[in-house]
Amino acid sequence: MKHRFLHNKKALALMTVAVFLILIATASASPTTFPDVVGHWAQSAIEKIADLGLIHGHADGKFGPDEYVTRAQLATILANDIDQRAAATNTLIDDKMNTVDRSLALWNIQPGLGTVMIEYGNRLARLYFAAKAGNWDMAAYQLDEMFEIQEVGEVTRPGRAPMLKAFEDTYGPAVDAAIAAKDTAAFDTAFNNMISGCNNCHAASSSGEWNSYQFVHIQVPTTDPADYIDWAAPGMGTGNKK
Ligand code: HEC
Repeated sequence: MKHRFLHNKKALALMTVAVFLILIATASASPTTFPDVVGHWAQSAIEKIADLGLIHGHADGKFGPDEYVTRAQLATILANDIDQRAAATNTLIDDKMNTVDRSLALWNIQPGLGTVMIEYGNRLARLYFAAKAGNWDMAAYQLDEMFEIQEVGEVTRPGRAPMLKAFEDTYGPAVDAAIAAKDTAAFDTAFNNMISGCNNCHAASSSGEWNSYQFVHIQVPTTDPADYIDWAAPGMGTGNKK
């Protein structure tokens, strides 16, 4: 019997805690209310705008539902309303801007991965010709710009972001280090590895239309994609970088 008593006491304690928790939960979830508003014809309207923070009760906790509104109180209500609407509008705009939704015109015209990849590949070739000419500053600049444009793809095609980031983390540092060391041999190795990385991702990527993009096969560039650029620029690699 002793054990059972103890057991019951425990159950009672647990029940008390549960009741407290329910009370706390109901208190925080229930709308703002005022004792002199309960049962008033305008109760739900008053509670609604009180919940929105547009109107507050008196210091004694009452509302005074049948009192006249002064000009000062009206001004306060309107000012609260303006603040609330401004905050709500800002949140709405931020949410729309920060969430890819291709049913929205502005999102739908943002460059997708195909467009980003054209710049990506172009900069890869520029990186190569800059490095071949020993213009290491230009090479560093092109590598930075590659990963800049990659970010556009990560935003507009969030599903591809993990693989793009993994690509950058896997192949970027070695190319970067070779450029910093002005080491042609190290650059060639790192550059070739990076190209394998491009192709691995193409092979591993699929979409609604394609099982794989392995047919997009990158190679070491053989022709200069931008021969209007003098790769061996004057003053290259001498203190341009801050
Ligand atoms: C996330 C994995 C991924 C990585 C890493 C990647 N690509 Fe791509 N690439 C794609 C996908 C996916 C497509 C197809 C894009 C589409 O149409 O949506 C593509 C397409 C391309 C295209 C065809 C663009 C066109 O429309 O003509 C080129 C060029 C390209 N990539 C170059 C590169 C180069 C160069 C690298 C490495 C520096 C690279 N890609 C790295 C996923 C990747």
